[in-house]
Amino acid sequence: MNYRHQIDYELYEDWHELQESDVALIEQAYAFCEQAYAPYSQFKVGAVLLLEDGSVVKGNNQENMAYPSGLCAERVALFYAGANFPSKKVKAIYIVAKGDLINSGDLLSPCGGCRQVMLETELRQKSDFKVVLVSQNNKTMVFSAAKDLLPMAFGSK
Ligand code: THU
Repeated sequence: MNYRHQIDYELYEDWHELQESDVALIEQAYAFCEQAYAPYSQFKVGAVLLLEDGSVVKGNNQENMAYPSGLCAERVALFYAGANFPSKKVKAIYIVAKGDLINSGDLLSPCGGCRQVMLETELRQKSDFKVVLVSQNNKTMVFSAAKDLLPMAFGSK
């Protein structure tokens, strides 16, 4: 038997085409991305979480001389939210980046570890959240659930 997975998402040529509220959160992610501590990769990532009460949690990547000790922007934001607001559901995550590590024409996409953490956030809060991935050429992918980014994940149903 052969099987195939299908991933549904929306693709926009430019993130400014999104709703005003999304654009405002992407602008916050870009501002926060500048505060990343990324002296080793020179690749700055910003992640903004929209929580169910309308509040916002921001993260950026934090690197370390002992490379594996650093952490991605998405996990900085998600773990902060999990630690400080465990009962507030995440409604959306907005991810942006700046740097030459990936070509500006390539789509920005979170690493496997961050996908796993996003997935568990959905499992923990028993609801999906929107994932907005903004590439450096402004092309933007919008997923209605983080689990769509990690088919057959460890711990998924
Ligand atoms: N990084 C993130 O913050 N998020 C990702 O999804 C992938 C990579 C960070 C980690 C490291 O500080 C830098 O980008 C280069 O890999």
